[in-house]
Amino acid sequence: MIIDGKQIAQTLRNEMRDEVARLTAQYGRKPCLDVIIVGEDPASMSYVRSKIKASEYCGLDGELLRLPATTTEDELLRLIHERNDNPLVDGILVQLPLPHHINELSIIEAIAPEKDVDGFHPSNVAGLWLNRQTIVPCTPKGIMALLEATTTPLAGQHAVVVGRSNIVGKPVAKLLLDKNCTVTIAHSRTADLAAVCRTADILVVAVGRPHMITAEMVKLGATVIDVGINRLANGRLVGDVDYDGVAPIARAITPVPGGVGPMTIAMLIRNTIECYQRRITK
Ligand code: GUN
Repeated sequence: MIIDGKQIAQTLRNEMRDEVARLTAQYGRKPCLDVIIVGEDPASMSYVRSKIKASEYCGLDGELLRLPATTTEDELLRLIHERNDNPLVDGILVQLPLPHHINELSIIEAIAPEKDVDGFHPSNVAGLWLNRQTIVPCTPKGIMALLEATTTPLAGQHAVVVGRSNIVGKPVAKLLLDKNCTVTIAHSRTADLAAVCRTADILVVAVGRPHMITAEMVKLGATVIDVGINRLANGRLVGDVDYDGVAPIARAITPVPGGVGPMTIAMLIRNTIECYQRRITK
């Protein structure tokens, strides 16, 4: 089975568009998402464009704020504080990575936790790990939605997450644990990575190395979620998984592009709606 993230995300976007129309009629204003990008990294620009497009499609308000790469940390902080203080703004997203002269954690910590649609603020991270109501990061949330949409059995299954980033690896491991998976987090220093991966019923790969996971690293019938988006020298986009080799072995697999990527963006809209609802009913 090919897990069609593009199609599943489209269904979600249509549902959210209806939901936004209902909420707007009920509360008299649209949910509002502001997206900030610093500099002109082509990959980041492309992701941000997709985020804005989905936001407009679903009927959200908001602005795209494009700042030059020379923007200082103080200037960015001032902009965030201004959006924090604006009651009409529900969500603030600062696209990462930031230029090296800006401290990423300082920026993440400056965003009001109740407007942190990425779920990266320390209080939202703590909320996730302490099972409190929180904002769940978009990519992990999208991965869980794909597993649910494809009725992947989770309880008691062995999930191996390759990659330990704050954005994907660590939070998705926690979400899988919450669904009663037995979870292993593997990474670049894992001894005999192939043997560990072969024990996975669910294999989630988020390392950013093209074609790192090959057929001999995958158990027959495993569900494979490829989070990688790598651009090869010839311009082709590929995942962290050797799709052509692994697809015949897997029960289900996400393609790149068209797997996890569209789900991340759908979950950003979902998080913005959730932030709006919590703020407007508070
Ligand atoms: N850069 C790569 N992934 C993400 C993400 O999910 N959110 C933000 N803000 N930046 C990113």
